[in-house]
Amino acid sequence: MSLHCQKSAKGDKVNTHKFKADIHQDREDSEAMAIEPPFFEKYKAILQSSANEKEKPPTVEGFEELELPLIDLSHLNLGPLERQECIEKMGQAAIEWGFFQIVNHAVPDELLNRLKQEQIKVFQQPFDKKSENNFLNLSVQSYRWGNPLATSLRNLSWSEALHISLKDISKMDEYNKLRPYWWRYFDGTSDQMPSAMAPCCCLLHLISVTVACLTQCAFEFASDRQHGLNFTLIRQHDPSTIEEYAEKANFLAQRLAEYLAQNLGIKANYFQENCSPSSSSLRMNRYPPCPYPSMMFGIIPHTDTDFLTIVSQDQVGGLQLKRNGRWVSVKPNPKALVVNIGDFYQALSNGVYKSITHRVIANQETERYSAAYFYCPTYETVIESCSKPSLYKKFSFKEYREQIQKDVKATGDKVGLSRFLL
Ligand code: OGA
Ligand code: NI
Repeated sequence: MSLHCQKSAKGDKVNTHKFKADIHQDREDSEAMAIEPPFFEKYKAILQSSANEKEKPPTVEGFEELELPLIDLSHLNLGPLERQECIEKMGQAAIEWGFFQIVNHAVPDELLNRLKQEQIKVFQQPFDKKSENNFLNLSVQSYRWGNPLATSLRNLSWSEALHISLKDISKMDEYNKLRPYWWRYFDGTSDQMPSAMAPCCCLLHLISVTVACLTQCAFEFASDRQHGLNFTLIRQHDPSTIEEYAEKANFLAQRLAEYLAQNLGIKANYFQENCSPSSSSLRMNRYPPCPYPSMMFGIIPHTDTDFLTIVSQDQVGGLQLKRNGRWVSVKPNPKALVVNIGDFYQALSNGVYKSITHRVIANQETERYSAAYFYCPTYETVIESCSKPSLYKKFSFKEYREQIQKDVKATGDKVGLSRFLL
């Protein structure tokens, strides 16, 4: 345990003169097709009212840095005793912290590095391009930045994100670019037959079907028993890096959810029955350097709306969680993925596992990247506590989401599980 002070942010007080220069810079940047979202322009009124000292900013300085409980997933393969101990340790962390970190998770470093490179490529595009309606062939609102409903420094997020629903992932441009056009025709992501290809279509079809079958067989046999988990991947095409990561994260999330369920007596196939790979999502975050890090957040305090989240972060740091009423910083570990319990697991476990409020603080000099995989049920799934008497009313994911949307609109805050207390 060490006392860790985030970069001293003295001198980042909004002063009217500097602020005007910032807005000016913002305009010049956007004219030059800059990558940064126009934060200054958008938050002009909020920043101005803070410059006039009408609003007291949140204080974001000087935090204790803690290491999260470390779960070594290779212990799941050592023997029945070690396996049981590992599962119990995971459960204990979910009860006491709502957060833990996992090592030997079988997601290769090489894939995590490629994912980060992919993120850099995505976010280094000009802002105008990122905010186009079908950026990367994704649905509207996949690219998000700041907080459109921010009313004060307290609910202002200095970050941008690409939120990819797993339903859309195979339609992404990044993925399509990796494959020849004729292949897209055959696997159904394009319905236009390339005219030049027509004469050799039959032959190509035959070849492609054979290749697909062989690839599928190869993946069925491909497994990784080296770490505590065993991936069996069944695919009919070459996945993109993002798709490959999402596939592994989904596999991992389901296993973690199942291990956590064992401690509570929840039936083994609960998650298989209620979650489908397309119900979850991957959110790639970028936190640009922020000129006022002591006054605003990278992501405002929140809990996650899912069963659990798997976070891959770089070494910059900034993730904080609320522990015993105080904010503490999570010490980044290059070998580990961070796991946190979401609202649905808290409801399902009847309040035993904790969906902890967390946030990301801003950094004046260094940009930060992270990717969060949100493991969610299908919209129709009704979440009901596994023990009685229940703390919460039962609710469907759809109802929960609708309630959040209402609350965010009305109050700027999602409110969350407390809405469903009995
Ligand atoms: C999130 C989140 C944490 C991080 O995207 O919900 O909490 O470290 N991210 O970026
Ligand atoms: Ni979160």
